[in-house]
Amino acid sequence: MLEMKREIIPPFANPDIIPPELREKSVPAHVAIIMDGNGRWANSRGLPRTEGHKVGELALLDTVAGAIEAGVKYLSVYAFSTENWRRSPAEVRFLMGYSRDVLRARCDQLNEWNVRVRWSGRRPRLWKSVIAELERAQELTSQNTGLTLVMNLNYGGRAEITDAAQRLAMDVAQGNLNPERIRESTFGRYLYLPDVPDVDLLIRTSGEQRLSNYLLWQCAYAEMYFATLAWPDFGRFPLWEILTEYSGRQRRFGGAREEIEKS
Ligand code: FPP
Repeated sequence: MLEMKREIIPPFANPDIIPPELREKSVPAHVAIIMDGNGRWANSRGLPRTEGHKVGELALLDTVAGAIEAGVKYLSVYAFSTENWRRSPAEVRFLMGYSRDVLRARCDQLNEWNVRVRWSGRRPRLWKSVIAELERAQELTSQNTGLTLVMNLNYGGRAEITDAAQRLAMDVAQGNLNPERIRESTFGRYLYLPDVPDVDLLIRTSGEQRLSNYLLWQCAYAEMYFATLAWPDFGRFPLWEILTEYSGRQRRFGGAREEIEKS
């Protein structure tokens, strides 16, 4: 298949491909992506849904390279949600096996790119072989200082908040935490990856405009961008276009400023 032959261009490999001139302060530290549209992309070409996921892997690597080049520090990707278990057994099997294989096959490459891989999600139900690859990737790349790539696998925002609440309640019950002193920052420390900052920019591909239970706590003040491209067509260039658009946005975090128009 033509699309499968798409070449992976490592970050900074091609001087003719350069990221846009973004002022450093306007580059979002944390970009999160809902990689949507693989199935529709494949079906519209007369292919099975799984082919869309395969091309999606190349889109992911190109996007990671583009994020590194642009100076993004954290990139979170929604690879498998706690709701994706509702898909057909064959697709779930494919996605589990494919996640394991992608991690195994791409780990060294990501390591060479100085990427730190981290997993965020629930352990129960996730295939043991997937957990093993996630842990191997985390271990191998733990000292890397470049982009942190958060793989959200078997992840759900409500599941994360529920798990955090349960662990917090246990600390209260055991007398380790005074409930009167619980602040937002206290709660944040119980999330799966408490040291990863809030999301600055959330991108969803394929035209759908919803959050689908993704990083609910961390997206409280995220800027949203809904791209019409399906995920397999995504990559560094669309990412840079979105980053350029983002750099012109005004973020107020609930604040306000005087903007009286002169007549
Ligand atoms: C959403 O498209 C995509 C997924 C549920 C899986 C994401 C997987 C990849 C990008 C493959 C490579 C990466 C890893 C980590 C294995 P969809 O199936 O919901 O498409 P649809 O909305 O058209 O049905």
